[in-house]
Amino acid sequence: MQPDLSSGSYTDLLAVLGPDDVLVDQDLRAGYEVDWTRRYTGTCSAVLRPRTTAQVAEVLRICATHQVAVIPQGGNTGLVGGSVPRAHSHGPVVVLSTRGLSDLGPVDSDAMQVTVGAGVTLAAWRNAARAAGVDAPLDFAARDSATIGGAIATNAGGSRVVRYGTMRSQVVGIEAVTITGEIVGSLAGLPKETVGPHLPSVLAGSEGTLAVITRARLRLVPRFSHTITALVSLDSLAAAVQMLGRVRAGLGSLDSVELILPGAMELVSAHLGRRPPVAKGSAYVMIECADHVDPTDDLLAVLSTLDGPEGGVVDTAVTTEGPSRDQLMEFRDRITEAINAAGVPYKLDVAVPVAGLPALVEIAEQAAVTYGGRLIPFGHLAEGNLHLNYLEAGDPAAIAELVLTAVAAAGGTISAEHGVGVAKGPWLRLVRSSAELAVMAAMRSAWDPTGLLNPGVLSPVSSVAD
Ligand code: FAD
Ligand code: LAC
Ligand code: ZN
Repeated sequence: MQPDLSSGSYTDLLAVLGPDDVLVDQDLRAGYEVDWTRRYTGTCSAVLRPRTTAQVAEVLRICATHQVAVIPQGGNTGLVGGSVPRAHSHGPVVVLSTRGLSDLGPVDSDAMQVTVGAGVTLAAWRNAARAAGVDAPLDFAARDSATIGGAIATNAGGSRVVRYGTMRSQVVGIEAVTITGEIVGSLAGLPKETVGPHLPSVLAGSEGTLAVITRARLRLVPRFSHTITALVSLDSLAAAVQMLGRVRAGLGSLDSVELILPGAMELVSAHLGRRPPVAKGSAYVMIECADHVDPTDDLLAVLSTLDGPEGGVVDTAVTTEGPSRDQLMEFRDRITEAINAAGVPYKLDVAVPVAGLPALVEIAEQAAVTYGGRLIPFGHLAEGNLHLNYLEAGDPAAIAELVLTAVAAAGGTISAEHGVGVAKGPWLRLVRSSAELAVMAAMRSAWDPTGLLNPGVLSPVSSVAD
């Protein structure tokens, strides 16, 4: 149980937000206190729901004055426990929900940009872009709930990174509020500006520890009229890795190259109640191309060079846009949902140089055998990004130690796109030197001297709920 807010801070917050947006009843707080995976949970003193940047500034000023810890929360789809209260904390804690910051500005078709509130969902961003004949460069399965603020704070990735980069690359302007209520940043949307550190880049990946993001100016990209999707089954993961270079070099219209390993394919097939439209393989790659002119011939030409035992290809299914494409995509898009339906997973989100993927999967499997658990592996092939999900994990900390040590030794990272949250804190030491951790800590205390913003997140000594 968290202590109640002091009567002074409660009265001040009520005066700014009104009773409907200061939630103290347990029933009303509950949905904000547990994460999407159900692994991470804690209690807070109140949930605050500001609707404007000015309200965020006033709320943070009150929290700083009364030394109330603040957990920024967007869509609460984060997978590393950073968006919900910690299991143990000292003093009053509030969840600051940004979902009310939902203003969506007009699409600027000349600049190919749009200004959006931090609480706007990825789907709303994409729909607004598409209504104006353009598109959003970032996409992943949590699109209907994940917010722009959360995507920036975690430097989210998803399926189109091979073409457009991660969320960091989409932010051409930002507005954020510091713990003392100062509003910082610019929404002018200048693609080129070199005046010291770039604020959008500083806040990308900061996981709510430096400031609360309130609005962003985002890049837009062309909306392609032709999309073609292929699912390829291969006889080994090594063959999938070998295919990658050919696909990338040969396809200017390449939009995504996703990886599904057999454990994940079996689980999602059972969840969907459908068999995949290709023969069984040891690895499956989903390739998508999109262009203003039909890229089918280009894709088929590249696939034909890979066909047969030499390229390791077992079978291929190709589909264009429409219901059959949507059905095919579900085998990739709905894996995380299938995992959650099967239990409370222990999740690792790692990346290694692509050549190291086969060795990493072997170690991940060995971890399941040694420490208990059922491994469900899939990910984003082009970035060497594997999502290693363990159902019924026997000893999660031991699994993480074995796998993450191997990842670091291979020159990889302990978090490719989900962030560190509270889940990965103890393993920061594997990928950041003590000098680097000291710089990170100094930067954090410059923004937030008394450590009120998301305490325990991105911290090498965080408490882990495993
Ligand atoms: P939350 O979960 O609410 O918060 C995440 C972190 O950001 C927390 O530390 C929080 O404190 C901080 N934060 C949130 N809003 C703000 C703000 N306005 N200012 C400052 N800090 C803030 N992620 C990927 O990268 N790629 C994927 O392909 C992907 N697929 C997913 C699929 C599913 C089905 C699910 C459930 C999740 C997936 N995720 C993926 C993870 C998740 O959706 C992303 O991390 C997303 O960016 C989180 O956004 P959110 O609004 O839900 O943030
Ligand atoms: C995905 C999420 C889990 O790639 O990152 O589906
Ligand atoms: Zn992912």
